[in-house]
Amino acid sequence: MERIEKRRDGERGVDVGVVGATGAVGEVLIRLLLERGFPLRELRLLASERSVGRRMRVGDRELEVHRAEPDAFDGLDVVFFAATGGLSKELAPAVVRAGAVAIDKSSTFRMEPGVPLVVPEVNGQALREHDGIIACPNCTTIGLVMALAPLEAHARLERVVATTLQSVSGAGRPGLEELHRQLEDDAAPPGVFAAPIARNVVPLCDRAMPDGWSSEEHKLVDETRKILDRPDLALHATCLRVPVEVGHSASVIAESADAISPADARAVWSAFPGVEVVDDWNAGVFPTPRAVEGRDAVLVGRARSDAATGGLAFFEASDNLRKGAATNAIQIAETLIARG
Ligand SMILES: NC(=O)c1ccc[n+]([C@@H]2O[C@H](COP(=O)([O-])OP(=O)(O)OC[C@H]3O[C@@H](n4cnc5c(N)ncnc54)[C@H](OP(=O)(O)O)[C@@H]3O)[C@@H](O)[C@H]2O)c1
Repeated sequence: MERIEKRRDGERGVDVGVVGATGAVGEVLIRLLLERGFPLRELRLLASERSVGRRMRVGDRELEVHRAEPDAFDGLDVVFFAATGGLSKELAPAVVRAGAVAIDKSSTFRMEPGVPLVVPEVNGQALREHDGIIACPNCTTIGLVMALAPLEAHARLERVVATTLQSVSGAGRPGLEELHRQLEDDAAPPGVFAAPIARNVVPLCDRAMPDGWSSEEHKLVDETRKILDRPDLALHATCLRVPVEVGHSASVIAESADAISPADARAVWSAFPGVEVVDDWNAGVFPTPRAVEGRDAVLVGRARSDAATGGLAFFEASDNLRKGAATNAIQIAETLIARG
């Protein structure tokens, strides 16, 4: 069932709420709503008790932050959730009851049957059926599926091995603050991350699971399969946290029955919206997190044949706060609006 509808005949514009407005994703999301010319009418900023009364500059206006609570959604059309999973679970049903659509950045609803998990360029058609809650994939998943989808359409994938290098802002403001603290004081103890992150690489993102995987690695596998509609896809992931402020990247090997040549890969990536090929090895041109920070495109490069498996090896990078989070969420809302 389509849930976005103009509830006041003849009026234009969309009334929007942002839960987690003061966070790393929330602030980027608010900035991008303005930058992209989103047809905003009302913008309601919501966060925790800590931020109530704080005023945030939004374009040429100053808006006050209110408490995110069940009766905060009256009159809204779309509510973006960029806070905690627990809060999404508690408040997204209240958004639906208020007649609005909840677009959730947390992992809470991603794998629920009936909840679309959407990267608009890849599976925007999944937005046709929903019950008021739409899930945004994990920030690492989005970059990976944007790079894999054109390859999957070209030559059905059989096996994918991905090693991700994830920036500290993937863990929000507390992640950024922990890196900065440790860069100033090498002895500052880890709290957000499982080991010191300054001058280090930590092979654990999110929680350690009893099966030897991390919860982040499970998310990457499960979400990629759901978005590509390939529950059978063999996919192995290793997720690493690196001392980069913004930008997630991944080294990937993708195998298919008919080998994908680097030239074919570059051609199908170039034709895919939102993907940009940055690949001139001899000229020292390749994707990096730093090059993609502040951009919406997913950069792909270093395409080469893997002699060991016959697969295609490549490297991709995306801005985890933009395409990995805010941009993707806004694109979902824009797609719903475009459908009227
Ligand atoms: N960072 C990324 O790259 C990324 C990418 C994809 C998805 N996500 C997801 O997006 C969400 C937000 O992440 P973030 O990185 O922006 O985190 P963050 O910087 O830590 O911000 C968290 C936000 O949630 C609010 N919040 C926390 N507890 C709350 C409560 N009990 N009631 C109301 N508001 C509460 C905070 O408000 P106060 O300021 O008032 O505390 C803040 O606005 C998370 O679900 C995360 O998994 C993040």
